[in-house]
Amino acid sequence: PRRVNLQDLRKWKREGRKIVMMTAYDYPSAVHADLSEMDVVLVGDSVAMVTLGHDTTQKVTIDDMIYHCRAVVNGCKRALIVGDLPFGSYEISPPQAMSSAYRLVKEGSVDAVKLEGGRKMAETVHRIVQGGIAVMGHIGLTPGSVSAIGGFRSFGRNSKEAIEIFQGALALEEAGAFAVVLECIPHLVAKHITECLSIPTIGIGAGKYTSGQVLVYHDMIGMLQHPHHAKVTPKFCKKYAQVGEAIQEALENYRDEVLQGKFPNETYSPYHISEEEYEKFV
Ligand code: KIV
Ligand code: NA
Repeated sequence: PRRVNLQDLRKWKREGRKIVMMTAYDYPSAVHADLSEMDVVLVGDSVAMVTLGHDTTQKVTIDDMIYHCRAVVNGCKRALIVGDLPFGSYEISPPQAMSSAYRLVKEGSVDAVKLEGGRKMAETVHRIVQGGIAVMGHIGLTPGSVSAIGGFRSFGRNSKEAIEIFQGALALEEAGAFAVVLECIPHLVAKHITECLSIPTIGIGAGKYTSGQVLVYHDMIGMLQHPHHAKVTPKFCKKYAQVGEAIQEALENYRDEVLQGKFPNETYSPYHISEEEYEKFV
């Protein structure tokens, strides 16, 4: 199948056809994304939290992101693949952002990059796009800034913040971003922004009026459900499966069967030696 491109996204936005996006971080999740015909796959810096167990997204490096992007590209042939520029790889200057973006495209083989921030990042977005790389914006809750924010929280619940987000969205569109993620904002604020932009909005915790939706893979499949130290799944995230429970059951069954001598039975002992060879051996 042909890979989804920016023209498809523009067409879908025009037609009111929703855009479906999810994150993936490795080969198996990328294959699942493709099999379920996701439009856009994001190699998110959320990899820091859901696969590496960090408390924030701040700890991943551009090299970590490249490593994960390459695995996703191996599994994903249909979706447009977007790679997150991690915290610290783009904020210092537009040239810093451009060289990080080039690395993610050349070494990570992604189709586009994403970075966090509104008006203050517009110039950087413009420069990366001028440099030939498609950029997705990300405003509202921007997890990379968690230490300055003082924790994870929603944004845009007062008019001052809502206006700030709105102006950020306009600035990103003006700068040439092809889409913008709206994270953890009131659905009415997301609706107004979506109506005022010509590029698609992709919501997460932003209600149903955005042009598309994105969810984090581990959260949506209920992967992080370890009995005694469960990570909290955000309250906006619907769990479409309880994969964590299925994994736990499998591992416990394996352990029990080994301890009881039930595994491996004859079915799983497939290599045979002839009697004659065995006699010579012993
Ligand atoms: O890193 C990530 O998973 C993201 C999505 C939540 C949009 O940025
Ligand atoms: Na991210």
